[in-house]
Amino acid sequence: MNPGKLTRLLLILSVASLLIFGALSHSRAQRPKDVEQRVENLLRRMTLAEKLGQLQQLDGESNGNFRPEHLELIRQGLLGSTLNVRGAQRVNQLQHVAVEGSRLKIPNLFGFDVIHGYRTIFPIPLGEASSWDPVSAELSTSIAAREAYAVGLRWTFAPMVDIARDPRWGRITEGAGEDPFLGAAFARARVRGFQGSDYGAPGNILACAKHWVAYGAAEGGRDYNTTEVSEYTLRNVYFPPFKATVDAGVGTFMSAFNDLNGVPTSANHFILTSVLRGEWKFDGFVVSDYTAVKELINHGLATNDKEAAQAAINAGVDMEMVSRLFNQHSPALLKEGKVTQATIDEAVRRILRIKFRLGLFEHPYVDEAAESGALLTAANRAAAREIAGRSMVLLKNSNETLPLKKNLGAIAVIGPLADDRRAPLGWWAGDGKPEDTITPLAGIRAKVSAQTKVGYAKGCDTLGDSTAGFAEAVALAEASEVAVVFVGEEAEVVGEAASKSSLDLTGRQLDLVKAIQATGKPTVVVLINGRPLTVPWIVDTVPSILEAWMAGTESGNAIADVLFGDVNPGGKLPVTFPRSVGQVPIYYNHLNTGRPPEAKNRYSSKYLDTPWTPLFPFGYGLSYTQFKFSNLQLSARSIRNNGGLTASVEVENTGRRTGDEVAQLYIRDLAASMSRPVKELKGFQRITLKPGEKRRIVFTLNSEHLGFWNGQGRFVVEPGEFSVMVGPNSEDVIEQKFAVTGH
Ligand code: BGC
Repeated sequence: MNPGKLTRLLLILSVASLLIFGALSHSRAQRPKDVEQRVENLLRRMTLAEKLGQLQQLDGESNGNFRPEHLELIRQGLLGSTLNVRGAQRVNQLQHVAVEGSRLKIPNLFGFDVIHGYRTIFPIPLGEASSWDPVSAELSTSIAAREAYAVGLRWTFAPMVDIARDPRWGRITEGAGEDPFLGAAFARARVRGFQGSDYGAPGNILACAKHWVAYGAAEGGRDYNTTEVSEYTLRNVYFPPFKATVDAGVGTFMSAFNDLNGVPTSANHFILTSVLRGEWKFDGFVVSDYTAVKELINHGLATNDKEAAQAAINAGVDMEMVSRLFNQHSPALLKEGKVTQATIDEAVRRILRIKFRLGLFEHPYVDEAAESGALLTAANRAAAREIAGRSMVLLKNSNETLPLKKNLGAIAVIGPLADDRRAPLGWWAGDGKPEDTITPLAGIRAKVSAQTKVGYAKGCDTLGDSTAGFAEAVALAEASEVAVVFVGEEAEVVGEAASKSSLDLTGRQLDLVKAIQATGKPTVVVLINGRPLTVPWIVDTVPSILEAWMAGTESGNAIADVLFGDVNPGGKLPVTFPRSVGQVPIYYNHLNTGRPPEAKNRYSSKYLDTPWTPLFPFGYGLSYTQFKFSNLQLSARSIRNNGGLTASVEVENTGRRTGDEVAQLYIRDLAASMSRPVKELKGFQRITLKPGEKRRIVFTLNSEHLGFWNGQGRFVVEPGEFSVMVGPNSEDVIEQKFAVTGH
């Protein structure tokens, strides 16, 4: 599907959702002045206990049910929000207590982690970012929103927009990778997808930018670990995707778990108040991460619960997730003057404002009859398949082993993940169900001709030492014309609390690939994984490699679409693949050193035992056709520092198939008052070209792209020379230069 088609689909979806959910209401858009008035009126009537109730969020049971105590707390006005409670009937039951049974009738706000789909699961966000197509992300999140809305949810703890430069960190799977520009584009798209233009409109849900901030910079890639990030790097690298969510109108933020430069983020006034509210004028509310307020004690920022509550609330956390310290200790803190009434009132105001904007007071209930019909529809599955196909990255195809013919006599489908229904769903798979997953084996069976024999052998597990299944797998490969081996990671080893010190394939998976490759049969490796893996032997030896990621409910169909050429892969890596874990952190947009790496110079910035270059660079990905970049032209050789220019380049499909290319534009500010990265992505366009077709792509560069946050925290465009580089990935680029003048 091309982007035009996706955009149309997005439009159709919005209209359809108006028809489905619209029966409940007309426009829910509230006039800002009315909202503020209603907030103040309500606030005036609230007791302290009721105010503190709005600051509390509690967890439901893992099956989606609420807990018995929620009923009583809500009746007394002591609970404002739940997480994980879902299902139309349960939501209505609990909501009934809030709006009919409590004194002030303030509705409950139901939240859940809808990260890459609710019931129809889309590729993991890192995989979806490989599409380099924000329209795909907007579509998948808007479908996720509609499914979530149908089960009574009004708030997702997404998008996760943490920049991650360390694949040891399991949560790299949840974001858009290592780059702030690509990350900001996906952050915007995901907020738009969840919230639409009005998060109060039927079918839309409130989004939450998380984890504010620098959570992805955890030392050693160990989850929850300390981060030490200069303000320079925060502003230029870690902030931009968050700023993009604010510009896109995100309603909420989540404070993170990590310590940042000595002040845990959930008690960090600089980020929660000075930057977020002061500089960015964010007027939504901040929820803490799960028990992050209580964890301030472990951080050593507080000696007891009371001090932890004081630190978090004064820093700018409004709603406390799961721990109950605001509720328990605010009365005493107020009495002692350690927290002011104005601070509490402001937090309540921010939460009520969002509840009013959501239209919750007018429409607290969800239509139980509409629930089941909204989930896992044929249209949602079709979109999941298209987006999964767009997200796959062809890493190698040396003998044109791919695409495979559908009328092969026999194909061997091998590997621990060839018929696994859980792994493709990845981490935070909402209410996605393994039984709905199309596995690669099923997808291939559905794709090939009636005469083709599809054999399957698991070979080994992803963990453990057994090679007992090797002989069967080898015999199957020998009896087939081609072998496709599915290896990678299980969903349980990516995501939260899934940091790893090795990025190699686990168990005997590599040995299995070696055994199959040794048969001499044309071999294809398909990687199913949630983070970059170190697979240099496979890259050196196996002719064809497809990075399929954890591609969701429809992954098997999407993989088959790509393997057999119905979809020509056009994805690009949103993150650098290292050769070995010892190279980590390795990312393309690094600063230069005084001694840049040189092969023949020992005293240069490199390793003695491994190359300094990555296994695959950022932005990398092949196609079944070939593209040529030429004729890079700049509209000016010199511009003023408040001016702009265009860069244009010709891209030609020189191969024999229609295919997609992602033209990528990078800049380098050659000398400035601070060292600048050797390359920074500042533009990209995914285009479809027919064989022989040539198109000139135009990028605009202005101060927004050319400037940076300097040592004084000011955004500046400094005079001097700039490089503009354009190409199919961050390494293979053609270059031109221009100058910026003025001060
Ligand atoms: C995670 C958040 C998530 C929250 C609620 C935490 O452990 O860090 O990303 O939103 O749980 O499930």
